[in-house]
Amino acid sequence: MLTKEMVKKLNDQINAEYYSANLYMQMSAWCDDQNFQSFAKFLRDHAGEEREHMERLFDYVLDCGSLALIGQISAPTSQFKSLLELFKAAYAHEIEITKQINGLVDYALTHKDYATFNFLQWFVSEQHEEEKLFKTLVDKLELVGENKRDLFFMDKDLNRTLSESGLLTSED
Ligand code: FEO
Repeated sequence: MLTKEMVKKLNDQINAEYYSANLYMQMSAWCDDQNFQSFAKFLRDHAGEEREHMERLFDYVLDCGSLALIGQISAPTSQFKSLLELFKAAYAHEIEITKQINGLVDYALTHKDYATFNFLQWFVSEQHEEEKLFKTLVDKLELVGENKRDLFFMDKDLNRTLSESGLLTSED
């Protein structure tokens, strides 16, 4: 059984993951509009992962006999100066999500909610992977620079880049 305060915190995280899904969908639209098709697909797939994170929390709250709540979700940013700026924003967003997850873990432990503490360990590992993924892309984009032709080839080669860095989790 969850305390009222823990239910509130988990519901807040449900909304944060939902916002993440919308943010990556919006970023995907920006990439598509700029003809970065592989980056668009990558971000769209990632939006799907964020929805899975949201559902994982949603189901946990329900499984604990509490009411999962979808609150108001603000509109994500839709304008970016460059692909690098977009991925810097994504990386900063993941760092923020990690802070939120760490806050939840800390709260669960200090309030002796060991079931939730245990449940959250999956998110701790996931955040480590997500930060690594976005940091790698920021680093690669910084290396490539602003040259449109180089960015075009990076987009074309995105799957190979992710694969070589051990960051591709699916077949695509
Ligand atoms: Fe669900 Fe990317 O954090």
